[in-house]
Amino acid sequence: MTHRETQVGQIDIIHELLLDEAAIAEQVIKMKEERNAVILVHNYQRPEVQDIADFTGDSLGLSREAARTEAEVIVFCGVHFMAETAFILSPDKTVLLPEMRAGCPMADMADAADVARARDENPDAMVVSYVNTSAAVKAVSDYCCTSANAVQVTRAVASDRVLFVPDKNLAAYVASQVDKEIIAWGGFCPTHENITAQHIELAKIEHPQAEVIAHPECRAEVLALADHIRSTSGMLDAALESPATEFIVATESGMLYPLANAAPEKSFFSPAAEPLCPNMKLTTLSKVLWALQTLEPRVTVPEEIRVRALGAVERMLALG
Ligand code: 13P
Ligand code: SF4
Repeated sequence: MTHRETQVGQIDIIHELLLDEAAIAEQVIKMKEERNAVILVHNYQRPEVQDIADFTGDSLGLSREAARTEAEVIVFCGVHFMAETAFILSPDKTVLLPEMRAGCPMADMADAADVARARDENPDAMVVSYVNTSAAVKAVSDYCCTSANAVQVTRAVASDRVLFVPDKNLAAYVASQVDKEIIAWGGFCPTHENITAQHIELAKIEHPQAEVIAHPECRAEVLALADHIRSTSGMLDAALESPATEFIVATESGMLYPLANAAPEKSFFSPAAEPLCPNMKLTTLSKVLWALQTLEPRVTVPEEIRVRALGAVERMLALG
């Protein structure tokens, strides 16, 4: 077979795959209407999944959408704690997580019984839990927070001592911004923890004009090199507002897709080693279609836990 024939063959296969993708996306949209469903998609999801979204955003934006939607079914393209938060806010809806194995290793680093014990050991501290926690951990917390509002929430709580769960990096960032004593849990996001200052410096050698946008789940040494520290959706605002035309983006590489869509005239690069969250990549178009067809797999939370977790989430949302 000649090189040209091989190339034509490859193009045919790619074309077929694209046709399949387009056909599945079309079926998803049709099923979504039949089911009266809304599709909520996190910024790290695969591009083709972001393309079928009714709303794409960060954890805060997605939970607000989950709270306000009038749809009967919420298809959550993200990870488990995000779907749980949607159910906590909208228990009358059917909440679907197309891939049940899509978890968050950082959320798994905080166990509710351990947090309750730490809370008892620190009676003068309020417990602020990052949204990347199980519903059971939220249920033993005073406030929930996300990367978009962690500083604001910690400032607002009525205590000068705060037990911050589970992300040690976000806790350190918050501690640098507020005048309170922060007791940090020891958890971390493996995807962000793997980004080092050296990775940023290497990327800066290749793109010397680029500004650095970092997620606050990154290590302090990475945040020290950042021009902007933002939640995933906050990164979109930072890129649009900045006069810079090149950016090194210190977060999961799925973020490059919404950034390129929002500012097509600008260029976005991952740090030297591309940060990937395997859990965020588990959701595919076929799984979304299957979930809509079968109304499975569903995420629910026992009512007794949900009601207590709702208190922490609502206290956060009430802060605006
Ligand atoms: P955002 O809320 O900023 O989208 O972050 C969620 C997350 O899991 C980051 O790793
Ligand atoms: Fe969890 Fe990190 Fe993946 Fe976000 S990127 S879902 S914090 S493992």
